[in-house]
Amino acid sequence: MSEHYERRSKCRICLDPVLEDFLDLGEIPPANGFVSSPDQDEVYIPLVVSVCRNCSHVQLRNTVDRQFLFSDYPYFSSRSSPIEKHFETYADKITDRYLDNGDFVVEIGSNDGVLLKNFENVDILGIEPAENVAAVAEERGVPTRTDFFSEKIALDVASEERRAEVIMANNVVGHVDDLQDLMRGIDALLTDEGAFVVEVPYFVDLYNGGEFDTIYHEHISYFSMRSFAKLANSHGFTVADAERVQVHGGTIRVYMQRTEAVEERSALVEDLLTLERAMDLDQLDTYHEFADSVGRRREQIRELIQELSSRGDIVGYGAPAKGNILLNYCDLGTDVIDFIADTTPAKQGSYAPGTNIPVRRPEEFEDADPDYALLLAWNYRDAILEKEREFRKDGRFVIPIPHLDVV
Ligand code: TYD
Repeated sequence: MSEHYERRSKCRICLDPVLEDFLDLGEIPPANGFVSSPDQDEVYIPLVVSVCRNCSHVQLRNTVDRQFLFSDYPYFSSRSSPIEKHFETYADKITDRYLDNGDFVVEIGSNDGVLLKNFENVDILGIEPAENVAAVAEERGVPTRTDFFSEKIALDVASEERRAEVIMANNVVGHVDDLQDLMRGIDALLTDEGAFVVEVPYFVDLYNGGEFDTIYHEHISYFSMRSFAKLANSHGFTVADAERVQVHGGTIRVYMQRTEAVEERSALVEDLLTLERAMDLDQLDTYHEFADSVGRRREQIRELIQELSSRGDIVGYGAPAKGNILLNYCDLGTDVIDFIADTTPAKQGSYAPGTNIPVRRPEEFEDADPDYALLLAWNYRDAILEKEREFRKDGRFVIPIPHLDVV
């Protein structure tokens, strides 16, 4: 046991003590741990991925102390405009499907209110642990409780307010260490007919795109449909419906309801279970082969960047958390990357965790006019290539994931 993390021996879904490590990304500081000076001490924590030999749920071997990870989170969802659009459509869909005027909608990990602010004629409540982010949500009129969701908080909300017709959790269930407590909380807070709607990166997309950089300490679980089905069933719920959404490099949205409230599971749920079986995601070899291919990708990225740096200047484009994993795992530092340009004011002026590459404003990218830009925010590829037409007249983007490319 270390001061900042704890090693797990039991699967977080089926609780069997049969985790098998298959991918070791090395010791890396938390991917959102931007530092204010390159001399600042950083905490390096092993980033090791395991799979459960019983239920095939993919998860981190270690759980990092969440106060340490999340107390001052630099990620504001609303600063990413493609994400804002995604949440507008999302809110419309949830309203059409499940909500009547006056209903109650709760969001776990509500960030700066980017999703909840789109709901009309219903009561809303966000539950968000990062104080700085919750404060922004409150300012824009989204009532927010500053806390980590838990069974206890769920019981408090149910008794102080009422049970909710819809509970949503976007890109947050993967961050939860105690999934049993989460599901007990949902059970306590959801109405009998209510829906628990979850969005997480889909492991199938991570696997197919070799998206190793989306593995970081905050992301404890990497869900497949099989793992969701198992989790839901063991708490009296059923995955009634699902869809794949093209954000964050491939996301799955699942709709869980109490089993007695579900007349029929949608065909898509069956289709995804079938797809996962066809991909042999229930076989251990599949995971070891994946780890080998990630190792090969690391070498390809390193060789390409080394070669390009001998021909011209390289700047990082976007400083998402996953960029820091990529840079650390591929061992790319200030010797080859001059700085990283990012639109998030909270990141500008800081230094990237582990590599200590300076993060600067996009204007400095324009001024520097580098020869190459390593696209760390590759999930916004289309929007960024479109926006940077001027740079692309002479400059080239290096796209690391899902396919290594220079465009
Ligand atoms: P994102 O992928 O949304 O989050 P995460 O850190 O969870 O992986 O992060 C995108 C980052 O890229 C964010 O710091 C903002 C930055 N960015 C730019 O600098 N320019 C852009 O045009 C876009 C779309 C994003």
